Amino acid sequence: MSKRVIASSYTMMSASLRSRGRRFRTVAAAALLGSLALNGAVVAAEPVGPDLTEKLRGLLAKEMIEIETAMKATYSAIIQGRHHEVEQKGQAIHDSFILAQSLTKQDRQDLKTAVPEEFLKMDTHFHQLAAALAEAGKQQNTQAQAETFNRMTESCVACHSQYVTDRFDGLKEQSVPQAWGHATE
Ligand code: HEC
Repeated sequence: MSKRVIASSYTMMSASLRSRGRRFRTVAAAALLGSLALNGAVVAAEPVGPDLTEKLRGLLAKEMIEIETAMKATYSAIIQGRHHEVEQKGQAIHDSFILAQSLTKQDRQDLKTAVPEEFLKMDTHFHQLAAALAEAGKQQNTQAQAETFNRMTESCVACHSQYVTDRFDGLKEQSVPQAWGHATE
């Protein structure tokens, strides 16, 4: 079965399940994603944004814009050998990310109930990559910086193509390798 066929049959399936409870839908989607993992590619899950509280969604959007700005600066720093800046930006991305910042206990709870486990795993992976980028900056290792930067870009795409398809339409039908969202050991 081609990936496009899988994607559209998933859309139909999720539409037909829409009337039932969210829990059931989530379980069905998880089972489906599990089976698709065998193909090494995944298709979009439900967007998470609409399920967040207004406060959390606002915070997340702000974080994302800051991360994008930091990524652009990092790109310039890598290709011009400004190692210290790579280290600083990597650290800033790591520290500023939503799950690491000082949300109230309630916010944290709200977030964890609103998003699927898989989203949190992608978040953790992204977080680890930012730490690796800072380390590569510190080590003045340009090769590691470039590789980590690429993996971070893959991680943005992996999460957005699964969980932000309501806003990033062009990522909806993309076939994204599963490894892009996760640590590969
Ligand atoms: C674990 C998931 C995840 C990862 C990883 C991730 N994002 Fe996002 N991103 C989101 C979500 C969710 C939204 C949409 C929030 C909403 O619905 O308002 C978003 C939205 C954005 C936006 C739009 C912000 C706005 O409201 O204008 C930008 C820009 C962005 N991300 C950049 C990045 C970049 C750059 C990376 C990687 C370096 C990245 N994101 C990694 C989940 C993620």
